Amino acid sequence: MAILVTGGAGYIGSHTVVELQNAGYEVVVLDNLSNSSEKSLERVARITGKKVPFYKADILDRQALDMVFDKEKIDSVIHFAGLKAVGESVAKPWEYYENNIAGTLVLLDVMRKHGVKNIIFSSSATVYGAPERVPVSEESPKKDCTNPYGWTKSMLEQIMSDIQKADPEWNVILLRYFNPIGAHQSGLIGENPSGIPNNLMPYITQVAVGKREKLGVFGNDYNTPDGTGVRDYIHVVDLALGHVKALKKIEENAGLCIYNLGTGIGYSVLDLVKNFEEATGVKIPYEIKPRRAGDIDANYADASRAKRELGWEAKYGVREMCADSWRWQSQNPNGYED
Ligand code: NAD
Ligand code: UFG
Repeated sequence: MAILVTGGAGYIGSHTVVELQNAGYEVVVLDNLSNSSEKSLERVARITGKKVPFYKADILDRQALDMVFDKEKIDSVIHFAGLKAVGESVAKPWEYYENNIAGTLVLLDVMRKHGVKNIIFSSSATVYGAPERVPVSEESPKKDCTNPYGWTKSMLEQIMSDIQKADPEWNVILLRYFNPIGAHQSGLIGENPSGIPNNLMPYITQVAVGKREKLGVFGNDYNTPDGTGVRDYIHVVDLALGHVKALKKIEENAGLCIYNLGTGIGYSVLDLVKNFEEATGVKIPYEIKPRRAGDIDANYADASRAKRELGWEAKYGVREMCADSWRWQSQNPNGYED
């Protein structure tokens, strides 16, 4: 039996394919390559020594999905495929709802028609909005999201929870990621944003490699120790290993489960800059800029449920995250384009 990984050519997906193959799972990847390159899968094969069966297809394409489920013996789906740029989602809400929600509805329908009722879904800490207190546990109330991207995650959580409630044969695991950074220790795969990076770490590494002049720090008047935003950065390999643990949980007929995947430690923007400089020896010039719309003071995880129920906890620290992000960026200044 195989695990279908949608969006498996992307940043988190490619790292998860490595850990799944290392754990002995048979993996099939489906991706439309709208935000990724097939080269990531060639690199995965170099790391694991195993080929990665790949279908270039869209989750909105029912026929293509049917064909994959007919051909492959799929047991469970890990569903990463989706659009994820917060700012773009504000400008293109229809495209985000169509791709992420309509796409997932097609996927879920094809799954049930083929009797495949196990899914692990990439959700986000964004569903907590601006949390009343940190660390934030899974019991914390979901809040209004500040952008359509966030709403797609929140709504898809609801949709999958309702489907599981109506048919308890489904196993649905919702994983709420905090802020994934870092890259595989080999330096062969990593995050490959197109255009100007929205997120902090890829911006830092592009400054470090000389592609951008300096980092803009969005606000230093937040209610945090140094005034800059605090987040829970988690090594992408730890995140990937969380999916392997979640699959084990599915094998126990878990029903509906929700887990935060974070380290439980918050770092400010300036903490991350300092750690990056110390881990790599590269100086990051920065300037303080106005706040970015929709940003919150602080968010970090109470990840104790994942530890208790999955036996998972993050093992890499912030220095390793910085060193590994830098290895990937410095060895691949143009991502997979080289
Ligand atoms: P990514 O863009 O690198 O990966 C997503 C992949 O999905 C890409 O390879 C893209 O080509 C593919 N895709 C998009 N729409 C598709 C479609 N209609 N059909 C088939 N493939 C499609 O992003 P990532 O950072 O690896 O994120 C993976 C998942 O995790 C996403 O669902 C994202 O929303 C979620 N997530 C990411 C973060 C983060 O900070 N990176 C945080 C929380 C949640
Ligand atoms: N920041 C800067 N300068 C930059 C980029 C970011 O100062 O150039 C700051 C932000 O203001 C924030 C922190 O760095 O304080 C982290 O910002 P990111 O954009 O890296 O991450 P966010 O926490 O804003 O959002 C990320 C993903 C979302 C996801 C959320 C929670 O982009 O999709 O984590 O998982 F929903």
